[in-house]
Formats: sequence, C-alpha cells, structure tokens
Amino acid sequence: MTKLCEGRVAIVTGAGRGLGRAHALMLARHGAKVVVNDMGSSAAGIGEDQTPAEEVVQAIRDLGGEAVVDTADVSSWAGAQAMVARAVESFGGLDILVNNAGILRDRMMINMTEEEWDSVIRVHLKGTFAPTHHAGNYWRAQHKAGKPVDARVINTSSHSGLFCNIGQANYAAAKAGIASFSIVAARELERYGVTVNAIAPRATTRMTEGLREWTPEQLERRDPEWIAALVTWLASSEARGVSGKVFEAWGYGYAVAESWQHGAITPASKDPATLGKSIAEIIRFSRKNAGIDRDTWLDV
Ligand SMILES: NC(=O)c1ccc[n+]([C@@H]2O[C@H](COP(=O)([O-])OP(=O)(O)OC[C@H]3O[C@@H](n4cnc5c(N)ncnc54)[C@H](O)[C@@H]3O)[C@@H](O)[C@H]2O)c1
Repeated sequence: MTKLCEGRVAIVTGAGRGLGRAHALMLARHGAKVVVNDMGSSAAGIGEDQTPAEEVVQAIRDLGGEAVVDTADVSSWAGAQAMVARAVESFGGLDILVNNAGILRDRMMINMTEEEWDSVIRVHLKGTFAPTHHAGNYWRAQHKAGKPVDARVINTSSHSGLFCNIGQANYAAAKAGIASFSIVAARELERYGVTVNAIAPRATTRMTEGLREWTPEQLERRDPEWIAALVTWLASSEARGVSGKVFEAWGYGYAVAESWQHGAITPASKDPATLGKSIAEIIRFSRKNAGIDRDTWLDV
C-alpha cells in the first residue's frame, strides 16, 4: 500500500469519535504520527471524558502506529498552544493540523439563548483559529530558521454554513466563518510553505444519526472513511499545490464549493427614492442563493 503521510506528524482535533476518529486512523495507516485531541464532551459540548481519545490512541498503537492523547478544549488559547507543543515534544515537529472538533446547539434564532450562540461560535470558530494560530507561528519560526516546511491545515466547514440551514444560525455562522477563515489563512500562510483548505463533510456520526432513516446504501455512502480519504490526501505532500479551497465530501463524491461571486451591478445613487427599479433589476439578473434545499445531492 502507498503510504501518503509516512513520517509526518498530525494533530486531529475532536478525534475521539466520528469523523475525527476516522481521520486520525487513516492518517496513522498512512504513516503519520498522531496527536489525538478530544475533550470527550457530549454532542452539545457538555462534560469531559478522556476515554474516546485513549481508545483511538490504542487503536493506532494496535495498528503499529504512534499516537498520544491530548484532552485540550480546542477553544482554549493556552490549550491550543500546549497541543501544538505536545506534537513537537512527542514527535519532533508538526506537519498537519486537522481542525475537526465541533458541537451542536440547534434552535430557531429567535429562541436561541446567548449561551447557545456563544458556545457554538467559541468551539467552532475560536477552536479553529486558536490551533491554526499557534501552528502557524510554529511553521513561521521553522521557515525563518531555514528549515523546510511542507505543512497542511484542513478545517471543517459544513453545508449548513455554505448553504444556510434553518435552525442553525449559530452553527451556520461559525461554519461559514471557518470557510472564509480558511481562505484568508491560505493566503497568509502560503509564504511559509503551508496550505489551508476546508471540507464540508456529510457522514453518519452521533451528530447526524437521528436526522432521518437511511437505507443501507446511503449509510455506506455516509461512512466517515470517504471523507478521511480526502483529508489524508490533502494532508500529504502530493497536495502541495492545493490551497484555499472548500471541498464538499462524502461517499457520493467530492466537489469544489465555489465561493461568493460578484453579481449584476447598477450605478450608485445618493437618493434612496431612485433605487427601487435598479435594485429590482440587479436582483432579477443575479443568480439565486444556492440553498441547502435545492441541493440535488440530498436526494440521492
Ligand atoms: N457528521 C456530519 O455529517 C457533519 C456535517 C458537517 C460538518 N460536520 C463537522 O464535522 C466535525 C466532526 O463532527 P462529527 O459528526 O464527527 O461529530 P462527533 O460529535 O461525533 O465528534 C465531535 C468530537 O469533537 C469533540 N469535541 C467537541 N468539542 C470539543 C472541544 N471544545 N475540544 C476538543 N474536542 C471537542 C467531541 O468530544 C467529539 O468526540 C464537526 O466540526 C462537525 O460540525 C459533520
């Protein structure tokens, strides 16, 4: 078997379960040494339990690989810094950061509490920024010291963020933010030899298992392994030329999610009373927002 990540060092956040677990195991099967981060919270982000991360570390060791547990909350500034330091201390460096940890607190926006908003924004958005910031500083220092850097950040966005799911204002705002953050970080870190991409995955995990009934064929296409394969390729040296992209990913295929585009334009005016006709025109000549309900992939 071709090992795409032989000798590379990876951090995978939220790697105790679901997608993160699949990423960590596949990276390890491809030769990466893995920091398995997971604070072991419930799907809503409540509680802490080291067991899921420990089990994944054991599974990697059973494969003959190398892994260590990290139980930091990804949204903790100091915790994220210590996680990057743990990779360097345990395995002598860092090449791959997969920001995957996440929680859900779904609610219609008008019923959503401040706590539901803050916690989801914190875990996803700050929980992507903080590890990327500290890893980016490590890679910049390596680059400035004249050491070769061929590093990867793979972030986790969502269809909910890209196509705006009702009932998930907090989650969608965070996931759309992660998509834009990834493109900005890609532009900023290119000079140090770092690529940054994001995925918008679909898989059956505890986060999605109650959504609806799936046929056996659908369940197979919602296996996290399909997504882990793309993440592992993006993490490899082969993917050096790919950065600033957001990929939709599941067992039915991988697609590039195209970003916001400039639409129809009309001359500006300082008199709002003149705007009605021209604004109606540019709306008529612009494409509709791509919506989650118009996504044909949902119907397969
Ligand atoms: N499953 C899907 O279809 C789907 C779709 C779109 C996006 N996603 C995203 O994929 C990622 C993984 O989701 P999943 O479906 O595997 O969910 P999951 O609940 O199975 O796994 C998430 C893991 O993250 C950990 N975690 C939560 N908060 C943490 C924190 N602050 N610090 C460290 N670890 C933390 C949890 O303990 C859990 O093990 C999430 O970012 C999610 O939003 C999933």
